[in-house]
Amino acid sequence: MGKGVFLSKALAVTCAVAAVAAAATIIALSVVYAQEKSKNEMKPTSTASPSTSPPISTTPSGPKEPWDLYRLPASLAPVSYNVTLRPRLKRGTNGLYIFSGDSSVVFRCVKETDLIIIHSNKLNLTSFDGFLVKLRGLNGATAPGLKKTWPVIPTQYLVVQLSSPLKAGSSYELFTDFVGELADDLGGFYRSVYFEDGVEKVLATTQMQPTDARKAFPCFDEPAMKAVFHMTLIHPRDTVALSNSLSYEPVNVTLEGEHWTMTSFEPTEIMSTYLLAFVVCEFTFITKPAGGPKPETLIRIWARRKAIEAKQGDYALEKTGPILQFFQDYYKSPYPLKKSDQIALPDFSAGAMENWGLITYRETALLFNPEVSSNGDKEWVATVIAHELAHMWFGNLVTTRWWNDLWLNEGFATYVSYLGANFAEPTWKMTDLIVLNEIIGVMGVDALASSHPLSSKEEDVQRPEQISELFDSITYSKGGAVLRMLSEFITEDVFSKGLQTYLEEFKYQNAVYTDLWRHLQMAVDNSSIVLPASVEVIMNRWILQMGFPVVTISTQTGKITQKHFLLDPESVVDRPSEFNYEWFVPVTWIKTGAAEQSYWLLNKEATNANLTTSGDEWLVANIDMKGFYRVNYDSQNWERLLAKLSSKHQDIPVINRAQIIDDAFNLARAQVVNTTLALRTTMFLDKEVEYMPWETARRSLNYYFLMFDRSEVYGAMQAYLKQQVEPLFNHFKNITDNWKNIPEKHTDQYNQVNAISMACSTGVDGCKELTTGWFQEWMNNPAVNKISPNLKYTVYCSAIAAGGVKEWNFAWSAFKNATIATEADKLMSALACTKQPWLLNRYLEYCLDPNKIRKQDATSTIVSIASNSVGQPLAWDFVRSKWSHIFNEYGGGSFSFGGLINGVTRRFSSEFEYKQLLQFKEDNAGQFGSGTAALEQALERTKANMNWVAVNKKPVLDWFTNAI
Ligand SMILES: *[C@@H]1O[C@H](CO)[C@@H](O)[C@H](O)[C@H]1NC(C)=O
Ligand SMILES: *[C@@H]1O[C@H](CO)[C@@H](O)[C@H](O)[C@H]1NC(C)=O
Ligand SMILES: *[C@@H]1O[C@H](CO)[C@@H](O)[C@H](O)[C@H]1NC(C)=O
Ligand SMILES: *[C@@H]1O[C@H](CO)[C@@H](O)[C@H](O)[C@H]1NC(C)=O
Ligand SMILES: [Zn+2]
Repeated sequence: MGKGVFLSKALAVTCAVAAVAAAATIIALSVVYAQEKSKNEMKPTSTASPSTSPPISTTPSGPKEPWDLYRLPASLAPVSYNVTLRPRLKRGTNGLYIFSGDSSVVFRCVKETDLIIIHSNKLNLTSFDGFLVKLRGLNGATAPGLKKTWPVIPTQYLVVQLSSPLKAGSSYELFTDFVGELADDLGGFYRSVYFEDGVEKVLATTQMQPTDARKAFPCFDEPAMKAVFHMTLIHPRDTVALSNSLSYEPVNVTLEGEHWTMTSFEPTEIMSTYLLAFVVCEFTFITKPAGGPKPETLIRIWARRKAIEAKQGDYALEKTGPILQFFQDYYKSPYPLKKSDQIALPDFSAGAMENWGLITYRETALLFNPEVSSNGDKEWVATVIAHELAHMWFGNLVTTRWWNDLWLNEGFATYVSYLGANFAEPTWKMTDLIVLNEIIGVMGVDALASSHPLSSKEEDVQRPEQISELFDSITYSKGGAVLRMLSEFITEDVFSKGLQTYLEEFKYQNAVYTDLWRHLQMAVDNSSIVLPASVEVIMNRWILQMGFPVVTISTQTGKITQKHFLLDPESVVDRPSEFNYEWFVPVTWIKTGAAEQSYWLLNKEATNANLTTSGDEWLVANIDMKGFYRVNYDSQNWERLLAKLSSKHQDIPVINRAQIIDDAFNLARAQVVNTTLALRTTMFLDKEVEYMPWETARRSLNYYFLMFDRSEVYGAMQAYLKQQVEPLFNHFKNITDNWKNIPEKHTDQYNQVNAISMACSTGVDGCKELTTGWFQEWMNNPAVNKISPNLKYTVYCSAIAAGGVKEWNFAWSAFKNATIATEADKLMSALACTKQPWLLNRYLEYCLDPNKIRKQDATSTIVSIASNSVGQPLAWDFVRSKWSHIFNEYGGGSFSFGGLINGVTRRFSSEFEYKQLLQFKEDNAGQFGSGTAALEQALERTKANMNWVAVNKKPVLDWFTNAI
């Protein structure tokens, strides 16, 4: 799945309360289904012998029955499917949207068995003479008689018990006919709604990953159960149908007196069920044959007609060809399919999904409008496209065997998405920005005792919610960081050679991570690279144990040591590691004016004479943050680094200027260095104009704001920051000729936003007047918004914060009118900036009304409100009082829950808040789903915050007071 999965996502819920709701749906469905069945004319001939035993629902039996296990038995292997689906884009008489379908799967019996266990979830299956399936033998094999067929709800199976066994080596075909709900639940085959010219349009689309293909049709829904899919969609005449492969010419059909179009698709390549996609919509597309890989690859961008007409798909179309070409060269493997469709959907849970040949996106991740969207929006589009296209090979052509290796799939796509985006936009320095966008952030998460290793054991990831829980920042960002580190120490050239042979060996099949290590090792062995151990031995320490080390260097003695870095030094790590929390660390450094040097730290401590310095020579280690570790120094070296930053900061590479700030603040949080040392790393910023150091400082100081923005420290902090940011504000005022031009550099465009937002929030002269003036101008003439796209969010937020109900209502109306998703998103976040409690409370209520805030955006909006110091307690009360409703409606099995819990508890730093959190945990036991880990993290973080505030409040206040 694409980035941005930490945003809201509502998936099938699995808890007891939700089961009641699900049961209600199933009952309602049975009614539709009965009508459906009586209409159904086309039925294949049954080869099943008749029986009188009715389908029964599962009753609790021994835990050892094969259908009680969450993994499919290995006795059957699918070969191909033939699936026909007919979504109804109009509400039925009972108020439900439904789809009907039939499916047959050809499978081979690998091991003799008298059971067929296949996934099927929330589907109402037709009964044929008392059985839910029909079975026939192929190539002369005789199908055994059916004894009993029944659905198993907890494990999401359809079970077929046979009166005699299937024969190993023989092939069979299993047929089902079914009806499902086309719900707005963003999972499986679901519906999305948008308005065009005031007319409501309904479309049907899919999100199968990880375990929802079984919600669209019965299938062997595991990534290693690859097969060929023959898809047919029957859809309204005015719609188009899309799927993974190219379609044949659609034909018009009349069914039950209704007019439909039937679109069949070419057989897919051999692929996993979670990568299937089908869409029925009234969208249109743009295409451009040139610029892509192989001339015959068809590249199309699909979206709402209005969005295509407004050229919002043009940027994606322009970049897709070059990025595909880049990956084709990088992998030395041709793009595996005949076409590449990418489609922007109004309702979509993740950022994007890499369905093979039909990639689905949120609108904000694919569409771009240069007049309205910011450079950040553009970067998002380029990196998400690169991420998804990278999966076309890594993930789709070669798929990991089971979800426990998800980190490899997603970490890899995360890392190479920066290479692909860098190729598409060479001036942006994307390969630097990976440090800010992925690595620095996830180090904060991985420094908690409640973190987890990248790699999980296969047996620990069984149930759908356990799989969903893996889609977190460790999987994506740390996965990307350690693969980048690996690629750096074996060199990108050797890394890509290993990839090539890996893809070649496993194409159309499945692999495990050690298969990749083996191929990278072959490439290393065939190169001049010398490693202290094998790729596998080095990497095991990074993927099998959680966390990362802090490397401490004494420039006096050359002594170098490593230690597991924990943000809270008192936290207890209850996850033993066979490696004893030691790593094989590729240490790199530069000294004053000298070339980069490197050293492998393989033990707890070592000595290296090259690490010593003399005179006023300084040393900085972990160049460009290529390694996933933090660095601490002897105090003399810290002083020399601070002196260098003050005198001529440009001598230290820009990523390392950011790193020094980030490491110092985190080491201070962990009580390894003094808080005042960390604060001193921000003193040179009055001369700094680069984005990465400023952004790192802004994020690091954000913690101080979270902890102190309700205390007396706030005033002194504001005054200091104002003093630091004022020169930056003036710098941008100058280089933009009094805000008339847009800075040329991508990162300058970002830093201009920082300059304005920090200047406005700290009260730099002329800032608020500037932003409220721009906003006022727009309010006076709503038809013309002249605010520069990059600055929009900041200006909206600043003006809404300074304003009242008039500004808020205006922004709300602009949000409702917005036809461009990126614009709507900015307004939606900015609406949370108001300081008026009643407006914030009203906005919270809006969050749970899908007519006001789309379900996909609900949790992220609540989190935005909580990030406002006035909104924080309101959001916490709101979430607590409505937890059951939120849990049921907004995704017990989804990723968004972790984000919601983190978001509303980030400021917690008192005993009182800790107790509230414990109470919340107790009151809602068993109702946290994928937020379970986040709740534990919140408790841990609150404890750490309490300790930190107790120790640091006084010195921080004193330091800021003196620094002004
Ligand atoms: C199918 O029906 C549509 C609308 O009625 C019509 O425009 C189209 O030409 C028909 N296609 C074929 C192949 O007959
Ligand atoms: C090793 O390198 C040589 C020359 O670069 C190349 O021809 C050969 O295919 C490589 N072998 C492997 C296993 O990568
Ligand atoms: C403004 O920019 C010009 C060049 O563009 C430069 O010469 C001048 O020193 C700058 N002034 C300030 C206050 O930064
Ligand atoms: C939104 O649309 C309504 C109706 O067309 C219009 O009156 C209003 O001014 C619009 N609001 C904004 C902020 O554009
Ligand atoms: Zn992905």
